[in-house]
Amino acid sequence: MNNSYWDDYNRRIYEQEHMQVSLEHRGFRCGYNEEMVSLRFKILEKYCRGKRVADLGCGTGSYLIPLAKITKEIVGVDFSRNMLNTLQTKLNNQPHNSIQIYHENIKNISLETASFDVVYSIATLYYVSDVGKVVLEMNRILKKGGIAIFELGNLWSLNTIITRKAPTGVKSFHVSLGRMYKIIKQAKFRILKHRAFQLLPMQSGPIYLLPLVSSKWKIIMSKKIKERMLDEIMSSSFLFKHLAFRHLFVCQKEETT
Ligand SMILES: C[S@@+](CC[C@H](N)C(=O)[O-])C[C@H]1O[C@@H](n2cnc3c(N)ncnc32)[C@H](O)[C@@H]1O
Repeated sequence: MNNSYWDDYNRRIYEQEHMQVSLEHRGFRCGYNEEMVSLRFKILEKYCRGKRVADLGCGTGSYLIPLAKITKEIVGVDFSRNMLNTLQTKLNNQPHNSIQIYHENIKNISLETASFDVVYSIATLYYVSDVGKVVLEMNRILKKGGIAIFELGNLWSLNTIITRKAPTGVKSFHVSLGRMYKIIKQAKFRILKHRAFQLLPMQSGPIYLLPLVSSKWKIIMSKKIKERMLDEIMSSSFLFKHLAFRHLFVCQKEETT
């Protein structure tokens, strides 16, 4: 099955009504997800303030809407009409002048070359086949020196063993850490920050992995030591980096390209 088959397969799942509800950020008992949302916001706020920004895979706008208050202009791109309709409804209740929405595949965006200061993609690229294409598109639409913030999923992680598909049914496309570095290099990005998370899976899976998915582990891994969760400290260590699932990169487009 080729990549466009999987694009269409995933898009049809995102078009289903229940997806909007399952993607909203809800409080998790252990606080792990709340912490992830909050640290993403901190990074995004730092780079997006006063800038022209693109959100690839914006969904219903969980990040786009709050960021619109501090950006100069923000553009959301998503291939699910269902998600964008919900985003539009939220915007109608709370109008913003400087938001534009594009109904497109993020592998092939119609946005102008070298026109953005920042482009980001949160919790989306785990589910995109041929993710290298999206990273190339990010580089294309950025101005020289512009910033790309994105998360990739590691193929060699416990999370991948457990979730060949996301709980919502979406097909995942994870890549090894080595492949992530290659994709970033091929797109001519310089890595400014690389943070790793989710050493242990967050959902239940095969019986032999059950001891690792107990809620006690989640509580332990959510504990913070000097502003960082134990999960991040362990996931970013030399020993475990290649096994952690979620890799968040802040990259800069080379000034000379
Ligand atoms: C898991 S949701 C994340 C939404 C949002 N970034 C957030 O964190 O709340 C993934 C979103 O990416 C969109 N998406 C996935 N693959 C896409 C693609 N190839 N082109 C455009 N949008 C895509 C889906 O429709 C969905 O809205």
